[in-house]
Amino acid sequence: MCGIIGYVGKSGDAVNIALRGLEQLEYRGYDSAGLVCHGFGSRSKNCRLYKTVGRVENLVKKIGENPQSSCCAIAHTRWATHGVPSVKNAHPHYDCKKEIFLVHNGIIENYEYLKEALQREGHKFVSDTDTEVLTHLIERSKEKYGTLEDAVIDALCYVKGTFALAVISKTEPNKIIASRRSSPLIVGLGKDGYFLASDASALMTHTKKVVYLDDDEVAVLTPESLGFLDLKKNRKNKRVDLIDWDIKTAQKSGFPHFMLKEIHEQPAAIRDSLRGRLIPREAEVKLGGLEVLGDRLKEIERFVIASCGTSYYAGLIGEYIFEKYAGLPVEVDFASEFRYRNPVLNKNTAVLVISQSGETADTLAALRMAKKKGAVALGIVNTVGSSIARETDAGVYNHIGPEIGVASTKAFTSQVAVLALCALFFARLASRQGRGNNLSKAGAGEIIKSLYLLPPQLREVLKSEEHIKRLAKKYNKYNNFLFLGRKFNYPAAMEAALKLKEISYSHAEGYGAGEMKHGPIALIDENFPTIAIVGSPASRVYEKMISNLEEIKARRGPLVAVAEKGDKNISRLADDVIYIPKTQEALNPILAVVPLQLFAYYMAVLRGLDPDKPRNLAKSVTVE
Ligand code: G6P
Repeated sequence: MCGIIGYVGKSGDAVNIALRGLEQLEYRGYDSAGLVCHGFGSRSKNCRLYKTVGRVENLVKKIGENPQSSCCAIAHTRWATHGVPSVKNAHPHYDCKKEIFLVHNGIIENYEYLKEALQREGHKFVSDTDTEVLTHLIERSKEKYGTLEDAVIDALCYVKGTFALAVISKTEPNKIIASRRSSPLIVGLGKDGYFLASDASALMTHTKKVVYLDDDEVAVLTPESLGFLDLKKNRKNKRVDLIDWDIKTAQKSGFPHFMLKEIHEQPAAIRDSLRGRLIPREAEVKLGGLEVLGDRLKEIERFVIASCGTSYYAGLIGEYIFEKYAGLPVEVDFASEFRYRNPVLNKNTAVLVISQSGETADTLAALRMAKKKGAVALGIVNTVGSSIARETDAGVYNHIGPEIGVASTKAFTSQVAVLALCALFFARLASRQGRGNNLSKAGAGEIIKSLYLLPPQLREVLKSEEHIKRLAKKYNKYNNFLFLGRKFNYPAAMEAALKLKEISYSHAEGYGAGEMKHGPIALIDENFPTIAIVGSPASRVYEKMISNLEEIKARRGPLVAVAEKGDKNISRLADDVIYIPKTQEALNPILAVVPLQLFAYYMAVLRGLDPDKPRNLAKSVTVE
């Protein structure tokens, strides 16, 4: 949802630095891009502005191979909210005198009111965006206050909504002012200058030292200095954190797309999510991030999981896992619904938010509401230092490195694995207190063994890539798909359907197989394929699943099954079968979803689509 990058420093290479950073951030938005830089030297009062529609590569082409030397640049890749993608709506935006330039991520909610007031004062607007009001507000404040930081601080006091922004002014060469409210922005500390970015992946080639800006803080960056203020102009001391991501995790490393790379990273990602957290000898799980809560943990009697998109489907699987292992009541909701309900929460309820980015606006709002209502706020988050990670009372990191492909893959399987860890953790806790399901030590030991086996089993699943590619070729002519599953595999079917629609633009619906006869069966004929996650023959719902598939075959529906290795029944029914290894029923979605991620990927590629940048989608949705 819009990416921001900025650099100010002694190197004259600011334009290239900003462009390379923008390429890293492109997954956040790709309908237009723009850059503004100061002229070279500390006295130059010139600024050069470039804007293009479409991908960052268009901006790179426009600027050319030998960009002008500059010590200060800010740049932006846009995901449109107000105003169609066009050059005039692309950032950076500027004031009447074309003196102040600004890039922004977020939404200015009172922009119409502000725009009218500014227009009455004679300000001329050239775009349809909400962002442009910021430039004119700063212009007006600058006349009163003089310095750019004072003007930005004054202007921000009029603004309602969310923002991460970076501003430069022709009159103050080589200085960037930045601020945020509910949209991500971090400052990087390099050897010869300072950086700004929407997330850490854009900074990794330059520095691992970062400062996370908090809401309503202002950063003042020059080549020689870095300072922080609050909106009352008090100086603030900020902690410098170290990012522990490996640079390779933010590069394609020979894969044609990030999505394919991230699908293949799953064995390692799951291993990293489990690392150091399993104690097989004691059949225990160690989650230091939750243990910080001490006795408060014992008071938790109920869980509410709130999240969005793929993280929501992981949460739904979490509901089944928590109920099975820990015997605790769980409710799951879209964060966007939860935050507008009047949920009954108290100190015995834990609200568990799940978020890869840690910045999703609705999930963050759900978390804040939960805290206000006195619930224990827990998180499963991948991005260290993100807003959600910092605002939860306690939580568990996924530790899978950055996920760049817009369609989430490794984050999903890691989230399910971490949910299994959390369920085990609470199950053992409840068991020690004589509550819950009393999962036995032996039972917990079996689950731990199965968790350990996941990385090699995932490697085995990935070996069916060629088979899946062939299936994608065979089924590419269809534009509608039904995905079915039961129990743990019901949310997995919804997630697999989401993958297919996100990147191949096929219509796909995920359904609980038992519900099929209450509607979707009307769609089934020889032109409407079904993809079924069958589950293990040992499962209580296996026979039911088979009956549902019989009903599809009776209506001549093409059928692809994801089934357990050794299932002898399934090839009689399904036109095509993808076999996966046997695991605990609760962990089956982790293995089952991977071939369907590959299926979605190849469906998209065969259609000539870019799976890393599906139309209209953004990786991190920082607006409501
Ligand atoms: C967007 C992304 C999805 C993601 C969802 C929630 O829609 O495209 O891949 O699942 O946001 O994001 P989060 O970062 O909170 O997990």
